Amino acid sequence: MTLYDQSIQLLIDSQTASGAIIASAEFPSYRFSWFRDSSYIAYAQCRVGRFQQARDYFIWAAQTVRRFAWKADRAIANITAGKRLGPDDYLHTRYTADGLEDENQWWDFQLDGYGTWLWALGEYVELAQDGAILDEIADEVRVVYRYLSHLWQQPNYDCWEELSQYLHNYSLAAIHAGLQATAQLLPDLAQDAAGVTTAIRELMLTEGVCDGRFSKSFALKQPPQSILQTPQTVYHDATTDEQMRQGAEASLIGLATPYAVFSADNPHLQATLDQLEAMLHRPNGGVYRYLGDTYYGGGEWVLLAAWLGWHYAKIGRIEEAKKLKSWVEAQADENGYLPEQVSDHLLAPDRIAEWRDRWGSVAKPLTWSHAMYLILCEELKRYE
Ligand code: BGC
Repeated sequence: MTLYDQSIQLLIDSQTASGAIIASAEFPSYRFSWFRDSSYIAYAQCRVGRFQQARDYFIWAAQTVRRFAWKADRAIANITAGKRLGPDDYLHTRYTADGLEDENQWWDFQLDGYGTWLWALGEYVELAQDGAILDEIADEVRVVYRYLSHLWQQPNYDCWEELSQYLHNYSLAAIHAGLQATAQLLPDLAQDAAGVTTAIRELMLTEGVCDGRFSKSFALKQPPQSILQTPQTVYHDATTDEQMRQGAEASLIGLATPYAVFSADNPHLQATLDQLEAMLHRPNGGVYRYLGDTYYGGGEWVLLAAWLGWHYAKIGRIEEAKKLKSWVEAQADENGYLPEQVSDHLLAPDRIAEWRDRWGSVAKPLTWSHAMYLILCEELKRYE
């Protein structure tokens, strides 16, 4: 079986009867459905024509939002009244297959996945020509829209589940794309969305730029009144302030592909991508998350290699895209499984043992890795 076929199969196997998509069934800490991972996976399902699976996911996610909409409402009410968010005034980043919050402590206040969900839903509606899905889930789409349009200035964990005291350019890009997609789906929101997305872009361009590049993360000069009062974690986080402002960060690919927050010739975006290519793409290898990464020793991430390839394919750098595709393929094991990260060239080799002791071997298969590989394959097909 080719890795392409194997990946489609893995996406099928990772979805439960409820519609939830599990991040990694073999890795106990990841036996949950993350909004971030699952929304990219649903997008990959659309790209390979498996629309029913994507639909099942969107319906499951909407049911989950409905169950916890009261939390979004409470958060919005507190923000609107100029109060602080309470310790659990947010929608979680991941849920059990039954759509319940899990009882373990997790770095759960993350906004990007909800933006990605709205973005992916917009892609689904267009690709599957299924505007009718909104008859079933428009109310929940509105809940998520209102939640993001009120909370986007709140510091929250980044897409690597770190740095909760900051805003993150990647997360803002995902929110931006999600609000824009919603405005297409529900035109009565278009005017409101235009205002909020303009404000997001302005903030990214003013406070989110350092030395001509988009920062990984930044603190607001005038933080909003209501800041989440949760204990700060240093558990899985080795980024210094300097790296945060000036260092390369691979998720910033998302500002260009798929979210297109700024035009491709925006000089800050160009400089950001140049830096991440130079510093995080190991020549002939994969892509690191950021230079201070210590999670499982800081290896090369398969999904990021595919993501950079997706971006290259989009902008016509075909040979580089193909090279990344080949690298990803070479990381599959004898079962055709892709891991989360590859440990051959670690940034922090002395830090892998502690993670193996805590959680076992690196997650494999990671559904999101397979999904990003499929997206890259589909993107490259345009040139065949
Ligand atoms: C990553 C997240 C991801 C999660 C599940 C974490 O280690 O940092 O981005 O959503 O794993 O795959």
